[in-house]
Amino acid sequence: MRLAPSFPVRRPLPTMPVPASAPLSHALATAIAASAIDSAMDAIITIDDEQRVVLFNAAAEAMFGWSRTEVVGAPLSVLIPQRFHGSHAVAVGHFGAAGPTRRRMAQDRIVTGQRRCGEEFPIDASISHLTHEGRRYFTVILRDVTLRLRAIEDLTRSRAETKALAAAAQDALEHEKRRIARELHDELGQSLTMLTMDVAWCKAHLPAGYAAVSAHFARMEDLLKTTVAATRRIASDLRPLMLDDLGLAPALEWLVETMAQRSGIECTLHMDEAALDLPQMHSTALFRIVQEALTNIAKHARATEATVEIARDADRLRIVVRDNGVGFDAAGPRKPASFGLLGLRERVSLLRGEVCIDSTDRGTRVAIDLPLPRDDDAAPEHAGAGAATPVKPIPREAP
Ligand SMILES: Nc1ncnc2c1ncn2[C@@H]1O[C@H](COP(=O)(O)OP(=O)(O)OP(=O)(O)O)[C@@H](O)[C@H]1O
Ligand SMILES: [Mg+2]
Repeated sequence: MRLAPSFPVRRPLPTMPVPASAPLSHALATAIAASAIDSAMDAIITIDDEQRVVLFNAAAEAMFGWSRTEVVGAPLSVLIPQRFHGSHAVAVGHFGAAGPTRRRMAQDRIVTGQRRCGEEFPIDASISHLTHEGRRYFTVILRDVTLRLRAIEDLTRSRAETKALAAAAQDALEHEKRRIARELHDELGQSLTMLTMDVAWCKAHLPAGYAAVSAHFARMEDLLKTTVAATRRIASDLRPLMLDDLGLAPALEWLVETMAQRSGIECTLHMDEAALDLPQMHSTALFRIVQEALTNIAKHARATEATVEIARDADRLRIVVRDNGVGFDAAGPRKPASFGLLGLRERVSLLRGEVCIDSTDRGTRVAIDLPLPRDDDAAPEHAGAGAATPVKPIPREAP
């Protein structure tokens, strides 16, 4: 019996079989090259050192609308819009003098061509050069990228529109939550309180001998108390009115305290209260961000401790929420029905900030860096479509 070796066996690399026939003749090689050039999908144009066209393939004819008999011998400038003539000639000359033998014509931008009908169009081009019998020839391979650019534009516009829609939906939701919370608190809450007082009055003024009625009143009082408490809880969960009435700092204190009570997790809040005098859009976003991060800790982390830190650094606000729980794969794909972190990222992006989530099996750290609006700043537009303010990267550290 042969035993398989326990280490990888190095096999010799295969060698090229000895050619059966002689190398291509010059004439055959030239014919193959000419046929390849003419059947290429990309336009191929060669110009001489006076920038006159010497080769123009079939794809170039289709792209520019000129036939090769019309173009060969003509200056390259017929294929370029007038305003680029000077800069283009300089670029080609510079490339021929000092450049490598092959490169893209523009690393960071698309060049512009002009069809026979005068229509301009974007081109992705690469250029190479060779010297033959003392003369220099430049060959340019061109691809019409009109459709590609249009698709990128459409995608960019559609992303901006989706962002604007998400922002408007968030605004509307927040507005509706505020309205319902206010009505629950003011209308229903007040009526229930009045009712409690009335029941208390009836109970107090009940003549002796009505023990059964008195017991009913007592039960009604208990029920009313729990209903008032439930109404307050539902209203606060929708949107704590103190966020609008008293400001962000008391609202965050309430949030952290409530989370700690409900989850049994020891929650600590460190905040620079002076840093929290923010415009409403920012305070709502910050409140919802901390709320989502804490809800996630209560729902998923199996943590015993959680900390919320909010600090202001010049014109930036930094929020860090961390826990000592089981962690998760923060770089993994999103669960289909999970939208909390997505919404959190969206809120931060609308305020032109940055989110960084680090998670290990020792806990999770959600760090947010927000630029604060300057006094002369207009509120960021919904779409977040304005120029993004560059954001300092958030330094990574262990959760
Ligand atoms: N602090 C955390 N500790 C452990 N796992 C977390 C933590 N935060 C998020 N996760 C994981 O990331 C997933 C996505 O969170 P996300 O908030 O987006 O959705 P969700 O909480 O599942 O649902 P919802 O849409 O109600 O927020 C969670 O399901 C959970 O597995
Ligand atoms: Mg969540």
